[in-house]
Amino acid sequence: MNALKKLFLDELADRYDSEKQLVRAMPIMIKIATCEDLKTLIQNHLSETEGHVQTLERVFETFDEKPKTRKCEATIGLLKEGDELADRLKGSDSLNAALISTAQKIEHYEIASYGCLHEWANVLGNREAAELLEDVLEEEKAANESLIELARCCCNREAFGEDASGESVLVVESYSN
Ligand SMILES: [Fe+2]
Repeated sequence: MNALKKLFLDELADRYDSEKQLVRAMPIMIKIATCEDLKTLIQNHLSETEGHVQTLERVFETFDEKPKTRKCEATIGLLKEGDELADRLKGSDSLNAALISTAQKIEHYEIASYGCLHEWANVLGNREAAELLEDVLEEEKAANESLIELARCCCNREAFGEDASGESVLVVESYSN
């Protein structure tokens, strides 16, 4: 087996484990989030993530390989950090903004990983795998964009202490405590 194919399959096994971890973690994020739009966004991306697990199985197949997992330490670390942050911010107005930041860090990591896999599949001459990986890459990019939009339109404002009219309520709240 050539070195690039070995690297590709190793990274694919890492992705396969990562997506499975995320399928288990996202329902918890949905439960913790207090913003309805964020809950819906994560729920939609959970469905896509379940699809990514199946797509990765198909990518293994295109190389005549059985799906393998390799523990993705980066995903474990990102989820652990996000979990600790959410725990510290329980009941705070910045909780949803923090959940978005955790989700965005994960999306960026996924975008980098799928970007490499997509390129490598092309170099390896496996067009079917390259197309499958490109589809996943596009969904990750779109999920990241949706998170940015939601953060800008409400969750960051909420964390800053603005009500729906855009007025700052932070001062009022701090004096009423
Ligand atoms: Fe994702």
